[in-house]
Amino acid sequence: MRCQMVFCVVIGLLLTFNINFQDAVIFKFTNIVCESYNQSWVVFRYCRLKAVGRDRVHLNVNATILYPAYNITNHGKIFKRASGYKPWILDTTVDACRFVRKNYDPFAKIVFSLFKNFSNINHTCPFVGHQILKDFYLKPELLILPFPTGDYMLSMRWYFGKRLQFDTNVSFVFVEDLIKS
Ligand SMILES: *[C@@H]1O[C@H](CO)[C@@H](O)[C@H](O)[C@H]1NC(C)=O
Ligand SMILES: *[C@@H]1O[C@H](CO)[C@@H](O)[C@H](O)[C@H]1NC(C)=O
Ligand SMILES: *[C@@H]1O[C@H](CO)[C@@H](O)[C@H](O)[C@H]1NC(C)=O
Ligand SMILES: *[C@@H]1O[C@H](CO)[C@@H](O)[C@H](O)[C@H]1NC(C)=O
Ligand SMILES: *[C@@H]1O[C@H](CO)[C@@H](O)[C@H](O)[C@H]1NC(C)=O
Ligand SMILES: *[C@@H]1O[C@H](CO)[C@@H](O)[C@H](O)[C@H]1NC(C)=O
Repeated sequence: MRCQMVFCVVIGLLLTFNINFQDAVIFKFTNIVCESYNQSWVVFRYCRLKAVGRDRVHLNVNATILYPAYNITNHGKIFKRASGYKPWILDTTVDACRFVRKNYDPFAKIVFSLFKNFSNINHTCPFVGHQILKDFYLKPELLILPFPTGDYMLSMRWYFGKRLQFDTNVSFVFVEDLIKS
């Protein structure tokens, strides 16, 4: 009898937690910076955020790659804001062409899963022409990593061959409020 009670309370708490977790999570873009370092290979036509609701911000990007890129490397790094952005946990270099064939990098896989349905970037190398992200917003349910509440920046620096071609640095806020009901 008593054990059953405890069991019920635990299940009740889990359910409540779960519901609150879904309700209270905020995961949205706060800033985006795209910069090409070689306008004769990569041109950004636009790269911007648009608030479409209290907790939803859309990211739209239109970039053109003027010549095919066969060898693309991404250097990804996460910073967490604590009186200025400080490097936080992740610093990874991914062979993007190998990644789109093999999905080999677990972190890139999470990032890719967040945006692939909003883009035309889901294919193998080479990459050429218009690269589009349309009305991309962040879905907390796709984020399988436990993130503490905070302001973050994910810096992605893109190399073709050995040379840096462009940066896409995106900032976002994550609020995991389990107490608010
Ligand atoms: C810039 O892009 C051009 C055109 O693709 C390329 O030939 C050149 O090597 C690139 N320069 C750098 C510094 O990456
Ligand atoms: C992206 O920009 C190019 C011109 O640079 C334009 O032709 C194309 O229609 C644009 N696509 C979108 C979805 O905005
Ligand atoms: C992406 O779209 C496909 C097909 O519409 C859907 O089955 C899938 O659940 C979507 N994935 C995400 C991560 O939203
Ligand atoms: C592109 O997306 C489709 C449908 O979501 C998926 O079946 C396919 O494996 C993806 N291709 C790559 C290269 O990720
Ligand atoms: C993107 O972030 C990196 C830090 O990893 C920084 O060095 C770089 O200057 C930033 N790029 C832009 C265009 O702000
Ligand atoms: C890509 O470029 C890097 C740097 O130039 C080089 O070390 C690497 O072998 C190249 N990879 C492929 C698949 O061409």
